Amino acid sequence: MTPGPASPLPVAVLGATGAVGQRLVERLADHPWFEAAELVASERSARRPYGDAVRWLGRSPLPAAAARCEVRGAGEALASRLVLSALAGEAAAELEPLYASRGHLVVSNASAFRLHPSVPLLVPEINPGSLDLLAGQEWAAAGGGLVTNPNCSVVGLALALAPLHRAFGVEAVTVVTLQALSGAGYPGVAALDAVGNVIPWIAGEEEKIESEPLKVLDADFPISAAVHRVPVVDGHTEAVFVKLARRATPEEAAEALSTFTGEPQRLGLPSAPARPVAVLREPDRPQPARDAERDGGMTVWVGRLRGDRAHDLRFTLLVHNTLRGGAGAALLNAELMVARGMVEPARVAAAVETS
Ligand SMILES: NC(=O)c1ccc[n+]([C@@H]2O[C@H](COP(=O)([O-])OP(=O)(O)OC[C@H]3O[C@@H](n4cnc5c(N)ncnc54)[C@H](OP(=O)(O)O)[C@@H]3O)[C@@H](O)[C@H]2O)c1
Repeated sequence: MTPGPASPLPVAVLGATGAVGQRLVERLADHPWFEAAELVASERSARRPYGDAVRWLGRSPLPAAAARCEVRGAGEALASRLVLSALAGEAAAELEPLYASRGHLVVSNASAFRLHPSVPLLVPEINPGSLDLLAGQEWAAAGGGLVTNPNCSVVGLALALAPLHRAFGVEAVTVVTLQALSGAGYPGVAALDAVGNVIPWIAGEEEKIESEPLKVLDADFPISAAVHRVPVVDGHTEAVFVKLARRATPEEAAEALSTFTGEPQRLGLPSAPARPVAVLREPDRPQPARDAERDGGMTVWVGRLRGDRAHDLRFTLLVHNTLRGGAGAALLNAELMVARGMVEPARVAAAVETS
């Protein structure tokens, strides 16, 4: 295991009151390398104790230190070198470059810069080398930078496709998603729209699923997506159909998926799951209610792996959208940056003093 910092590194959380921000606050409460030093949200929440500003959704109690922390407003000066962003879209587009220009390393969940050519779209098991892009970013001279993680459905899809692409070559993918309500943030979808219903549209989601995996995998095969919002709290389910360049049996595919590991596992990063992808053999799994939270919510569960007459393989996957697809993804990205020696705590203090 990579030794962590001598003392916990202070980090700031942007969008700390939202669905993903709360998961960050929850995970940071007992994180071995980081501590939540600064919590930032909108003017609605600013200058109030976090415990008063937030509608806490966590399954564990709101951490006492976070509850006392006064929420900062958007754009306020921060002292933490690392800034984890769970900002809503438009706020992210404005604030993430602002903080990067002030010398912060911004690790973002938001979509605003995912496809920007100089911004890593990082899944550490798949493309850790994309972090090299930071050196060429416009904020590098100030010591700042911006790293993103993919859309919550894309993290699960990319982790399942990566081992198949490496072993057999992926030629085409069709995916049908059943996405949880927490994917829409808080308060998200109105109860009268959500309960007992399926909504066959999520704004911008199909476009993200059809483009982001190609940047992560450095590939150019076609992806066809159909998305649905379903009345599930956490965990996106995806029915995936894959055409391969070299035919593989379901057993060969299962072997490729379940033996797949990467740099986070080799380095023993704190948020790294032992298995990025696990194959379930029970015919009725994975299920969000039973499997999403297993293994800390960081494993992608694949089940119903079988041959397909129109394609070559089909399977169902489950990814925890606010953990592996959100807060956990950002934490893993930040941990990889620390392990690679990219986070020197002193630099921001100097940048903040001169800004
Ligand atoms: N939900 C998921 O499963 C998921 C997964 C992966 C990525 N993401 C992405 O992560 C980001 C957060 O998603 P979410 O679901 O957590 O959204 P959310 O529940 O709506 O939370 C949005 C957060 O942004 C803050 N905010 C909004 N406008 C702001 C402004 N002008 N200035 C400063 N802060 C502002 C909100 O603060 P207030 O409470 O003060 O309004 C809140 O903390 C989004 O970009 C989303 O696309 C979400």
